[in-house]
Amino acid sequence: MIPHIRKQPLSTSITLIVVLVATLHHSVVSQEVAATADPQASPGNPERGDYNVTNGNGTVCLMARMGLQLNVTFTNMENKTVQELVNLHPNLTKPAGSCSGETATLILSEEKTNLTFSFSLNVTSKKYHLSTLSLSAAWPDMAAPMSAAGSDLDYLRGTLGRSYMCREEQVLMVDPSFSLNTYQLQVQPFGINSGAFGEAEECELDEDDMLIPIIVGAALSGLVLIVLMAYLIGRKRSHAGYQTI
Ligand SMILES: *[C@@H]1O[C@H](CO)[C@@H](O)[C@H](O)[C@H]1NC(C)=O
Ligand SMILES: *[C@@H]1O[C@H](CO)[C@@H](O)[C@H](O)[C@H]1NC(C)=O
Ligand SMILES: *[C@@H]1O[C@H](CO)[C@@H](O)[C@H](O)[C@H]1NC(C)=O
Ligand SMILES: *[C@@H]1O[C@H](CO)[C@@H](O)[C@H](O)[C@H]1NC(C)=O
Repeated sequence: MIPHIRKQPLSTSITLIVVLVATLHHSVVSQEVAATADPQASPGNPERGDYNVTNGNGTVCLMARMGLQLNVTFTNMENKTVQELVNLHPNLTKPAGSCSGETATLILSEEKTNLTFSFSLNVTSKKYHLSTLSLSAAWPDMAAPMSAAGSDLDYLRGTLGRSYMCREEQVLMVDPSFSLNTYQLQVQPFGINSGAFGEAEECELDEDDMLIPIIVGAALSGLVLIVLMAYLIGRKRSHAGYQTI
């Protein structure tokens, strides 16, 4: 009889933990769904492309692997201001560019779109960053071709010989009329060794993302401990109570 009564609180606690885990998991999952579900004219996440720049002697001097989505505001044929999301298609996009000691440039061209990335290296600090990003586009629904550029930017900061990585979606604001959304990005504009990405330096967004499971895990193990202790204390008490009676 008594062992049966004693077991009950533990099984109730286990049920509680299972329900809690299920609830937490559900809320995390539904959050993800809400975050990816975009209003109306979203073209979905862009496909990831591999883009290389080679220097004069044929060795790869800049490597980029990323999915790109342009967010452009322009005046259309009906003289209305519209905002459009346009994905770059890796199989239609041609990379070009050049590398020098302190500057590396990647130009991505689709039929009616040119997107130019310019990276700068500080040879003293051995740090690089994306300093200029420019777009020129002549899309069929535009009243006139547009161009937008941002200089003095400070995005995608990395260390010479290493790559910069950001798995999460990142928004690079360039100009009121143009921002670039990057997905699953890895770039290395300087110091490429033996044709492969160097060690990856991960962006803060990714680090924040990894923090969520850690926090949930810590909270859950804390809860398990509390329940276990409550059970043990309860058992001790009821045992003591049994003895005095
Ligand atoms: C596109 O840019 C506009 C204006 O900056 C902004 O309000 C909107 O949230 C952006 N949309 C996406 C999906 O990036
Ligand atoms: C390069 O980095 C050094 C050290 O951090 C800094 O003092 C210098 O101003 C930087 N140079 C440029 C051109 O930004
Ligand atoms: C893209 O660049 C190429 C080469 O410089 C040029 O011929 C073309 O007109 C440009 N396209 C747009 C849309 O600016
Ligand atoms: C880029 O260069 C790397 C290293 O040389 C190579 O493995 C990869 O296939 C190249 N990618 C493209 C799209 O040319």
